[in-house]
Amino acid sequence: MTEHDFSPKPYTNSIEKGKVTWESPSNIALVKYWGKKKDQIPENPSISFTLNECKTITTLTFTKKESNKDFSFEVYLDGNKKDDFKPKIQTFFERIESYLPFLRDYHFKIETKNTFPHSSGIASSASGMSALALCLMSIEKQLISGMSEEFFNQKASFLARLGSGSACRSIEGDLIVWGKTDSIEGSTDLFGVKYPYKIHQNFKNYQDTILLVDKGEKQVSSTVGHNLMHNHPFAQNRFQQAHNNLEKLKPIFESGDLNAFVKLVESEALTLHAMMMTSMPYFILMKPNTLEIINKIWRFRQDSGLHICFTLDAGANVHILYPENEATQILEFIKRELVVYCQNGHYICDQIGFGAKKID
Ligand code: DP6
Repeated sequence: MTEHDFSPKPYTNSIEKGKVTWESPSNIALVKYWGKKKDQIPENPSISFTLNECKTITTLTFTKKESNKDFSFEVYLDGNKKDDFKPKIQTFFERIESYLPFLRDYHFKIETKNTFPHSSGIASSASGMSALALCLMSIEKQLISGMSEEFFNQKASFLARLGSGSACRSIEGDLIVWGKTDSIEGSTDLFGVKYPYKIHQNFKNYQDTILLVDKGEKQVSSTVGHNLMHNHPFAQNRFQQAHNNLEKLKPIFESGDLNAFVKLVESEALTLHAMMMTSMPYFILMKPNTLEIINKIWRFRQDSGLHICFTLDAGANVHILYPENEATQILEFIKRELVVYCQNGHYICDQIGFGAKKID
């Protein structure tokens, strides 16, 4: 497929107004996307678990307008007008306009809310952009007869990617690959696809407890961070490593080798942060408590023999990943020893989910 497959033929149906709601989850990458080319094409492939509890719920109300000169929209978060969200959505609309020619024909009211606390330091761009892309696809579906579910999901992921790269991995679950890589058939830079091979029972219902170490605004946005991979001295090796790690994950997922999984996932998280520390300008997003947590996890893993591991996004919060059948002991350990490192004792218990849902 190419991007041209997402430019629609002239619409056959016409609608005056309507309303559509989607809820879409966040996701947590195991192999990280860090570095991109023009048009949100990733420099390397990535893979993520789709989450279940951390999601954005977006209602899009649309009304046909007189002139189709400009985009017209208003945005609300938790019922309050959010004009500071507008530039990001304006840019998103500009990027996707040629794939959704109806965008200038309607006025849109975008009402959105998150299930996770606002400014928890959890990125809402993946869930937020995917929810909006899905709402827009629901409109297009009414304008064209006979759109297949497969195409709907592919195009929703394709559009979400143009809003925020990692958002393309939030449409479906439970394990999503984005970025062309030889070891994964059907993988593409254009949109996220379901991981197509066998997944051992050990990875079903995998748990993710998110420790909120620092809820403040990120000191460096992901977009700036991605750009620092241009001319980064270790970039080419890093990109190759991501391909290799995806290939290594295949036998791990098939055999259920949790020890190998733990090593690969933690190495990916630390490599992501190593890229930030070795870029120019350089920066550190981990906080002292992030390191305290990592050290405690390592000690507990050694003492207990349980398969607890961590991963990190571009921030200080820690995602603790573990298999469902070890959940009782691990959660006890988290509450006993790790919650003290969270800001105001806040953490979120999540697990693998199966993707976005339309709400009627
Ligand atoms: C560290 O998807 O937020 O979470 O495409 O610029 O919106 P943009 O970046 P974004 O980057 C996410 C980076 C990451 C790793 C990952 O999720 O793969």
